Amino acid sequence: MSLTPNDPQPCSLTRFLIEEQRAGHIEPDLRLLIEVVARACKRISIAVGKGALGGVLGDAGRPGEASVNIQGEAQKKLDVIANDVLMEANAWGGHLAGLASEEMDHSQPIPDEFPRGRYLLLFDPLDGSSNIDVNVSVGTIFSVLPCPRQGCDPVDADYLQPGTAQLAAGYCVYGPQTTLVLTVGHGTHVFTLDREVGSFVLTGRDIRIPQQTAEFAVNMSNQRHWQPPMQAYIGDLLAGKTGPRGKDFNMRWVASMVADVHRIMTRGGIFAYPLDAKCEAKGGKLRLMYEANPMAFLVEQAGGAATTGRQRMMEVAPAALHQRVPVFLGSRTEVEEAGRYHREHDAGTG
Ligand code: AHG
Ligand code: MN
Ligand code: MN
Repeated sequence: MSLTPNDPQPCSLTRFLIEEQRAGHIEPDLRLLIEVVARACKRISIAVGKGALGGVLGDAGRPGEASVNIQGEAQKKLDVIANDVLMEANAWGGHLAGLASEEMDHSQPIPDEFPRGRYLLLFDPLDGSSNIDVNVSVGTIFSVLPCPRQGCDPVDADYLQPGTAQLAAGYCVYGPQTTLVLTVGHGTHVFTLDREVGSFVLTGRDIRIPQQTAEFAVNMSNQRHWQPPMQAYIGDLLAGKTGPRGKDFNMRWVASMVADVHRIMTRGGIFAYPLDAKCEAKGGKLRLMYEANPMAFLVEQAGGAATTGRQRMMEVAPAALHQRVPVFLGSRTEVEEAGRYHREHDAGTG
């Protein structure tokens, strides 16, 4: 066995995090918190993988009585299972002051019987719920913020920090492989779950999203509901080689943000969930605090860009825990191009 500093041994998530701590990139408590979240993701991965055999498919709630979350969306059994796994795993470690989830009306302080930590954890326990029952990739998204007040129960208002305040963010895709993608503000790194060993292994250090792309991800069925700048932008992509962009674009839409973003992390692309007439009153479809901001942090750390079309995502000042936003993220040049259509429209020159 080689013990030289450059040894080619697989690097586990545990070792990677210890090295990040030694490099001064994370506090020991944040390292332990990330380990706990990764462990919870392994449990969720096992539950997802069991499918019909584990009785985890289908809707939550009693027959004929759908269970609905604060978003007004019907919950799947796996939404509830994944939320419970993350809640239970993170309650007692002593690293957190509180948690907030897509599936819970309000944030929850750590129960009194456990020590309080200095961090707040936000998560989308199961992203891509519409894909669970059809055996298409789903995932978990998480974000870590500092707790602004120590020694008291954090309330929803304590979570309302811009994405630039995030200390760590990540997602785990439960697909053909279970893949954890993580940033602590020093690059974006990919870990693949070794299912035999039960450990996440570093398989992509400091990944970079290609700056240019010819691939876009959007739910085209919403086209007629979009606002003019989005209509113009996608119209020009669809015009292909003979249009103003001068090249053909390909389209992919998994409808699980984790899977669409992971493809973009791997080979580039732009992901868009813009404002449309159906979601305009709510501010957008995707949630700022536990979908858009963690993805924005990961994408920026991989050299990409993330905006609302009009503003850098991580600079949006949040007003509510479950706030929704329009989302454009991925290859930098293409996200800037989408932003140009919005700017020119707003200035009356588009
Ligand atoms: P969630 O399952 O956590 O509610 O998120 C679903 C989101 C996101 O994953 C995906 O990009 C988008 O909704 C899919 O939207 P469409 O149903 O419009 O395709
Ligand atoms: Mn989601
Ligand atoms: Mn979800």
